[in-house]
Amino acid sequence: MNGLLPLIFLLLPATTNADDLGYYITGACSNNMNYTRGSAFQANHDAILSSLPAAAAASSGFAENVTGAAPDLAYSLAQCRGDASASECRSCLDGAVRDMAALCPVQKSAVLIYEGCLLRLSNASFFGRVKTSRTTYVCSSHKASSPDFNSSLGALMSGLAEKAYGSPRMFAVGAVNHTPYEKIHGMARCTQDLSRDDCHSCLAKAVRIIPDCCPGRSGGRIFFWSSSIRYEVGPFYNIQLAEAAMSPSPAPAPAPGGGPLFNGGDHYPVPRCKGSGSSRTVRNTALLVSIPVAISLLLLLLLLLVTVCICKNKKVHKHVLIARDGYGDDEEMRSSGPLQYDLSTLRAATDNFSEENKIGKGGFGPVYKGTLGNGQEIAVKKWSKSSQQGHDEMKNEVVLIAKLQHRNLVRLLGFCIEEGEKLLVYEFLSNKSLDKFIFGE
Ligand SMILES: *[C@@H]1O[C@H](CO)[C@@H](O)[C@H](O)[C@H]1NC(C)=O
Ligand SMILES: *[C@@H]1O[C@H](CO)[C@@H](O)[C@H](O)[C@H]1NC(C)=O
Ligand SMILES: *[C@@H]1O[C@H](CO)[C@@H](O)[C@H](O)[C@H]1NC(C)=O
Ligand SMILES: *[C@@H]1O[C@H](CO)[C@@H](O)[C@H](O)[C@H]1NC(C)=O
Repeated sequence: MNGLLPLIFLLLPATTNADDLGYYITGACSNNMNYTRGSAFQANHDAILSSLPAAAAASSGFAENVTGAAPDLAYSLAQCRGDASASECRSCLDGAVRDMAALCPVQKSAVLIYEGCLLRLSNASFFGRVKTSRTTYVCSSHKASSPDFNSSLGALMSGLAEKAYGSPRMFAVGAVNHTPYEKIHGMARCTQDLSRDDCHSCLAKAVRIIPDCCPGRSGGRIFFWSSSIRYEVGPFYNIQLAEAAMSPSPAPAPAPGGGPLFNGGDHYPVPRCKGSGSSRTVRNTALLVSIPVAISLLLLLLLLLVTVCICKNKKVHKHVLIARDGYGDDEEMRSSGPLQYDLSTLRAATDNFSEENKIGKGGFGPVYKGTLGNGQEIAVKKWSKSSQQGHDEMKNEVVLIAKLQHRNLVRLLGFCIEEGEKLLVYEFLSNKSLDKFIFGE
């Protein structure tokens, strides 16, 4: 599974309802292993994808399948969150299959992770192998209420890792009263191909890195390919369905064999989250994600421009272009052409990319919350300095966002390439403007 190119990392709302299960978190495709159109592998791959969402929805949210004959075997695994209903599971996975066709059209090996489900494919078996080498995390922008929050949290999440170990679907939710007025809710889950011991150690790793990933925050989510955890102040899961999923004999249908299939010796490094320090309170905002149709052509144009500029000039220039869609404020309205963001503007907006403003990290790099001089809140994703790979990935992301416009995604405002920094600027929507998108003005 080497050479997987990370796809996109997007920001999600701090609170969840059933609709949020379809939120895209992260993904990757193997760009060095492509199949040929019309090949036997593709036939197997397509057959599996067409049957997997229904199979998972019908069997308590988990299905794995191997189709074909060597050397064209297609392996796949689909899993839904334990508290997803069969129809939520189905719709999350159907979305994943659609996105797979757009994001990883010819790649043999790929994974897409959503809040409510995960879809993973390969031409080689990965069943039963723990995969924690890629970490994606998203932190709440709320500060934890007190310094001892993390000890309540630590106790809750360690308890949930144990509970998941003992639960038939390796899924657990629970809550703890941090103060008489504040309850912390948590969730821990593994893909059901893992052995119980592997699940437990995978979850334990995730719990251990909470203080590094989301120091001093009241909510957080950490995603590995094989497990994930989440905690928030306030409930975010369907308690009835979650209880049913945790009970020894799940009501709707027995979980299909969750035991280890191929207990490979995948040697996984301990994941790391960079960054520490205290947090600053920021407003309660949901980050949502909306890509209007008009954006995609502009994005492609902008890609071309940037590519040409970068190839022409070794010296770094200031390139910031904006994709517009008519929802803009005055500043955006003014610039029906490219809007110029300076690096210095983005530095000022994010307090020089301070730890306090860091709100997440994906395959590409950290994401910061910022406020522009005109008060507009933005989310800024920062690439590693001056790597050619970073540039390709960034290009890739812009293309992918354009492709994924049918989903509820964060609106890309523009980007900035200056002094070796590569930055993408997204809209950071408040709940209020969120309503505008949900309710159509
Ligand atoms: C695989 O396909 C992707 C997408 O079409 C392409 O970007 C990539 O270069 C291909 N890789 C190889 C090794 O052909
Ligand atoms: C596995 O996939 C094939 C299609 O390739 C399908 O016919 C079969 O029913 C699937 N098996 C299970 C157990 O889902
Ligand atoms: C998967 O495909 C790649 C390249 O297409 C090949 O090198 C590799 O051996 C395949 N793996 C298996 C297990 O067949
Ligand atoms: C709680 O957080 C503080 C500061 O981030 C850290 O020093 C302490 O070890 C943490 N406690 C636990 C139980 O994680």
